[in-house]
Amino acid sequence: METRVRRRPQLLLLLLLLCGGCLQAGGCNETGMLERLPLCGKAFADLMRKVDVWKWCNLSEFIVYYESFTNCTEVEASIVGCFWPNRLAQGFITGIHRQFFINCSVDRVHWADPPDEILIPLIAVPILLTVAMTGLVVWRSKRTDTLLCGN
Ligand SMILES: *[C@@H]1O[C@H](CO)[C@@H](O)[C@H](O)[C@H]1NC(C)=O
Ligand SMILES: *[C@@H]1O[C@H](CO)[C@@H](O)[C@H](O)[C@H]1NC(C)=O
Ligand SMILES: *[C@@H]1O[C@H](CO)[C@@H](O)[C@H](O)[C@H]1NC(C)=O
Ligand SMILES: *[C@@H]1O[C@H](CO)[C@@H](O)[C@H](O)[C@H]1NC(C)=O
Repeated sequence: METRVRRRPQLLLLLLLLCGGCLQAGGCNETGMLERLPLCGKAFADLMRKVDVWKWCNLSEFIVYYESFTNCTEVEASIVGCFWPNRLAQGFITGIHRQFFINCSVDRVHWADPPDEILIPLIAVPILLTVAMTGLVVWRSKRTDTLLCGN
C-alpha cells in the first residue's frame, strides 16, 4: 500500500483531496447548520430594513451589515462543526443575495466568492493537516518495518 502510494503521486494527491473532504464532512452537522443560518438571514433582513430600498445596490451603504451577516454564517457554521464557506452555506447566502440584490447589476463584486485571505487558509489547513498525518503514518510504518526486519 505504502509503496504503491509512493509510486503514484497523483493517487496520493487524490487521497489528500478526499481526506480533506472527509475531515470536513465528519464533524459537520448540516441539519443544525441549516437551522441556524436563517437566524443570520433574519438579522440581516432587519438591518437592511434601515436602508432605503433604492440604496440596496450600493454596497458602501450596507457593507457593515453585510460583513456582520457573513460573520454570522461563519460563526453559526463553526458552532455545528462545519467549515466555512461550504456548499450549503453558500447556497443559503446566494438565496439571501437573490432576495435583496436580484435587481442590482451584476458588474459588482463576485458575491459568492469569499476573499482570498479567507479561502486560502480554509483550503490549505485541511490539506496541510492531512499531509502531516499521512507523513506520520508513513514514518511510523517505516519504523515498524525497520524494527521487524532488524530482528
Ligand atoms: C444536528 O442538529 C440537529 C438540529 O439542531 C439536532 O437535532 C441533531 O441532534 C444534531 N445531530 C448531531 C449528530 O449532533
Ligand atoms: C453609495 O453610497 C456612498 C455612501 O453613502 C456614497 O458616497 C456613494 O456616492 C454612493 N454611490 C452610488 C453609486 O450611489
Ligand atoms: C463575528 O461575530 C462574533 C460573535 O458575534 C464576534 O465575537 C466576532 O468578533 C465577530 N468577528 C468579526 C470579524 O466581526
Ligand atoms: C426587483 O424588481 C421587481 C420588479 O420591478 C420588484 O417587484 C421587486 O420587488 C424588486 N426586488 C428587490 C429586492 O428590489
